[in-house]
Amino acid sequence: MPTPPAKITAGTVRSDFNDPVAVVHYARAAHFLGLWESERVLIGRFFPDLTAHLLEAGCGAGRVTLGLWALGHRRLTAFDFAEELLDQARHLAAERDAIGINFLHADATTLGQCHLLRDTALENAWRSEPGFGGALFLFNGLMQIPGRENRRAALRELHAVCAPGAPLLFTTHDRDHSPTERALWRLEALRWEAGTQDPRLVEFGDRYFEDETGRTFMHLPDRAEILADLAATGWTHEFDALRHEIARESRAVREFSDECRFWVARKPARA
Ligand SMILES: C[S@@+](CC[C@H](N)C(=O)[O-])C[C@H]1O[C@@H](n2cnc3c(N)ncnc32)[C@H](O)[C@@H]1O
Repeated sequence: MPTPPAKITAGTVRSDFNDPVAVVHYARAAHFLGLWESERVLIGRFFPDLTAHLLEAGCGAGRVTLGLWALGHRRLTAFDFAEELLDQARHLAAERDAIGINFLHADATTLGQCHLLRDTALENAWRSEPGFGGALFLFNGLMQIPGRENRRAALRELHAVCAPGAPLLFTTHDRDHSPTERALWRLEALRWEAGTQDPRLVEFGDRYFEDETGRTFMHLPDRAEILADLAATGWTHEFDALRHEIARESRAVREFSDECRFWVARKPARA
């Protein structure tokens, strides 16, 4: 009997992001696309303090990092576990004279093991800020972590390095966002019941596909799943909305990325 293909792991995702096809795709977006209008609106609304030290998870080639810099945020730490993308981000920052951005190689699910990141959070404590003043995990990076427990681990790790009161902004897809989407997921549910789903997938809601931008693993949650994950990891839900409800995006942005749901959660302030 042939052995079933291996399940997708963090290693699969990391090597897919380090693949030259993906690197070119994300580097191009960092150079030429920049922040989406919806991101600009929500960053302005939830991260108004330009002096806060922000942590950007899954920074890739620096599309959001350099966007934050252009908005006037000067205390930025950004990390990714894909070294090739991180390299691109460092080069772009140098090219734009964005000196002082801290780029670190780290895995969101094990941030506590990254000494430099822990030290940066501690350094904030010496400035009487116990942790980062806010965190961002944009363009669905959190959902590219296979396994719900691992996504919760990432949420817990971000919570641990953020200061009380800090906001967390991230995006996900939404399995329920349109009738077509709902119909497709009903079909996928039947495949899972029959055991005929793609054997590489870890959980219902996962997708693994290949197109001209490379291979992509993505978990698509429903709204209830994210609300439960936030509650389980210490974050208080503050806001969520579909992208088209926040801003009208340019054609370039719509071609780069499909509809998603934006989430803002907050680490509760100390009583
Ligand atoms: C869709 S890309 C977005 C990149 C960039 N933020 C942007 O918007 O162009 C998701 C990013 O999350 C990173 N990522 C996924 N899982 C990660 C993990 N466990 N730890 C750190 N980075 C991770 C990937 O390497 C990738 O760079």
